[in-house]
Amino acid sequence: MSELVSAAADDDDLDAEASVRPRRLADFIAQHRVRDQLDLLLKGALGRGAPPDHILLSGPPGLGKTTLANIVAAELGAGIRTTSGPVIERSGDLAAILTSLAPGDVLFIDEIHRIAKPAEELLYSAMEDFRVDVVVGKGPGATAIPLDVEPFTLVGATTRAGLLSGPMRDRFGFVAHLDFYSAADLDALLHRSARILGVPITDGGAAEIAGRSRGTPRIANRLLRRVRDYAEVRADGVVTEETARAALQVYDVDALGLDRLDRAVLRALIDSFKGGPVGLSTLAVAVGEQSDTVEEVCEPFLVRAGLLARTPRGRVATEAGWSHLGKTAPAGVAQGDLFARDA
Ligand SMILES: Nc1ncnc2c1ncn2[C@@H]1O[C@H](COP(=O)(O)OP(=O)(O)O)[C@@H](O)[C@H]1O
Ligand SMILES: [Mg+2]
Repeated sequence: MSELVSAAADDDDLDAEASVRPRRLADFIAQHRVRDQLDLLLKGALGRGAPPDHILLSGPPGLGKTTLANIVAAELGAGIRTTSGPVIERSGDLAAILTSLAPGDVLFIDEIHRIAKPAEELLYSAMEDFRVDVVVGKGPGATAIPLDVEPFTLVGATTRAGLLSGPMRDRFGFVAHLDFYSAADLDALLHRSARILGVPITDGGAAEIAGRSRGTPRIANRLLRRVRDYAEVRADGVVTEETARAALQVYDVDALGLDRLDRAVLRALIDSFKGGPVGLSTLAVAVGEQSDTVEEVCEPFLVRAGLLARTPRGRVATEAGWSHLGKTAPAGVAQGDLFARDA
């Protein structure tokens, strides 16, 4: 997805993100609770000279999970191996990675909720006992060869902590949930990124971008790059409130930071389904998107903004959702905050 305010990373981001990605815990903006807890965990481990407990990072895309995984390795002075759940198709692939780890390495598994079952079971024994049984051969002649794994720290990241199996979750000694960032946090983040990129920015410019970034660092950084383009081409190169506002209008990012897909979801919900309730898959089909994309990318923000609610009977538009599209909700429609913490 290449939408400007999608929290998913596209290729353009991956390069651009590298330069502004914080390397150490001290440079990681906001998320003070998680930072504090991680700081203790890592210092404790360093003091004992043993790898820390396995770490699970959960939260919507673009909030800093990959960044934190790399920071964990940097703070420990350890090497990091990176893979992801969908890539590990066979347990043999995972066994090969595990048995090649150096002592104290960090193994980062992104989207760990999508790991295949046999690989997941192999991971259990590696996490718990630092050993894996590799099965050689097939049928009655198959034998399990036990192999040692060096002490390591698994860092798992997931956008869907609810999809992790119980046994998997239990094997993490530390679980951190990353939350959306406040506008003030994103403000600080934008000033930092602008400094690194050498982009002159005013307080008003940063505030304008921060307010439309859906609480998400990845989006804030991406909008900053687009506004910089606009400022350089159509203005004097300085990111001000006016250039930010004009640029974001060109890119079709509205005042709440909703993009075309978010608005399409809301509009379908209201225009085609009378505000719901409607099932996720029906809604996804109506906007021509995958259910996963709607659920993981659009919904968390629509729910947080109080525009959409997840109820046991399906998705419903809140009163604020109706009014965001300039419509009046029929009587009896819930206010956003009644449901905002649901589901
Ligand atoms: N707390 C933070 N402070 C500064 N920059 C951040 C922070 N969190 C995320 N970022 C920026 O946002 C980008 C996306 O973060 P990333 O770790 O890739 O998110 P995730 O893995 O959760 O999708 C990173 O490149 C980084 O520049
Ligand atoms: Mg990531």
